[in-house]
Amino acid sequence: MISVGIETSCDETSVAFYSTEHGTLSSVTFSQADIHAVFGGVIPEVASRNHIVKIKPVYESALQKSGLSNSDIDIIGVTNAPGLIGALFVGVSFAKGLGYALKKPVIPVHHLSGHILSAELSYPELKPPYTAIVISGGHTHIFDINETLSFKLLARTIDDAAGEVFDKVAVTMGGPYPGGIFMENLAKNGDRNAVKFPSAFKGELKFSFSGLKTAVINMYNKNIYSKEDIAASFQYTVAGTLADKVFQAAKLMKRDKIVVGGGVAANSEIRRVFYERGEAEGIKVYFPELARCTDNGEMIAYSACRFYKFRRFLNYRGSAFDTKHSIGLL
Ligand code: KG4
Ligand code: ZN
Repeated sequence: MISVGIETSCDETSVAFYSTEHGTLSSVTFSQADIHAVFGGVIPEVASRNHIVKIKPVYESALQKSGLSNSDIDIIGVTNAPGLIGALFVGVSFAKGLGYALKKPVIPVHHLSGHILSAELSYPELKPPYTAIVISGGHTHIFDINETLSFKLLARTIDDAAGEVFDKVAVTMGGPYPGGIFMENLAKNGDRNAVKFPSAFKGELKFSFSGLKTAVINMYNKNIYSKEDIAASFQYTVAGTLADKVFQAAKLMKRDKIVVGGGVAANSEIRRVFYERGEAEGIKVYFPELARCTDNGEMIAYSACRFYKFRRFLNYRGSAFDTKHSIGLL
C-alpha cells in the first residue's frame, strides 16, 4: 500500500510518500521558521498564506523524489487537528481535492498520534500497547495506546507546554524563537544541580509549567547564578518532571514500553534522564531519530497506513466511516 502524508498544522509545509512494503519513499518539508522568527512566534495568518504558496510545489517535489505517479497512491493521510485552523484548512483542502480527483480515501490523522507513531518508523519492532508522551511547542500530553490504536488521554498540562516554557525562558535570557536548542546549548556548560527549581503536582498525573517559568525568570533577574547554571538546572527539572509522570502512567497501565515524541524529544538531557530511568525501572524507552521529532509529513503518511487498518477513515466524498479519531476539520 502507498500513502501520501500531508502536514500543515503549524509552520511546516510537509509532504511524504510511504510504502508499507518499502518504507519511506520521499519526504519534503518547507519550514517557515525563518519567516516567523522576526515576529518572535508563529503568526497564524502568515502561516496559512505560506502553506497556500508552498503546498503544491512541496507535493510535486515529494512525488517526483518518490519515483511514483499520482495513480500509484492508495490512501491520503492529512493532519486534521490540532493546529492553527487556517493552516490546517490548507492541508485538509488539498487532501480532500486529491482524494476526490483520485477517488481514494482520505484518512484524518490527529497530529499528536503522528508524533507518537513516528517512533515506530525508527524501531520497526515497536508496536502498541505502550504509554506515550508528546512534548512539543503546544502540547505536553500522556496517552496510553492499545493494540487497536485507541488513544486514551492520561495527563496533560493545565497551562504552558514543555516547549513553550523552553521558548519563553529562552527569549527572557536573550535567545531566539524557538529557543529549545538555545537553552540546550547553554545548559551544556552549566551545573544541573546549581539551582533547585519547583516541579508542580508531584505524584499526580497532571502538568503545570507556569510556576517553573516564573521561578526561572525571577532567578535569572536576580543575577546570582550564571545563565548556563540556570539553563542546566531548568532543563534538568523539566526532564525529571516529564519522566516522573510518564513512568507513573506506564506503571499504572502496566506497560513495559514508553514512547516519546514531539520537538522537545530532541533534547539530549531529556533523552538521558528517560533512558536512565528506563534502565532503573525495567521499562524500555523509545525516542524517534532527531529528524523525526519535529513536524513532518512522514509521520502522517505512516499513521494513515496504521489507522487505515482499523477503518478509521473517510471516503473521497467525505462521508465518515469512523469519526471517533477525527476531531475538528474532517
Ligand atoms: O513538535 P514541534 O516541532 O512543533 C509543535 O508541534 O509545537 O515542537 C517545537 C518545539 C519548540 O518549542 C522548540 O523550542 C522545541 O520543540 N525544541 C526543543 C529542542 N528542539 C526543539 N526543546 C528543547 N530542546 C531541544 N533540543
Ligand atoms: Zn508537532
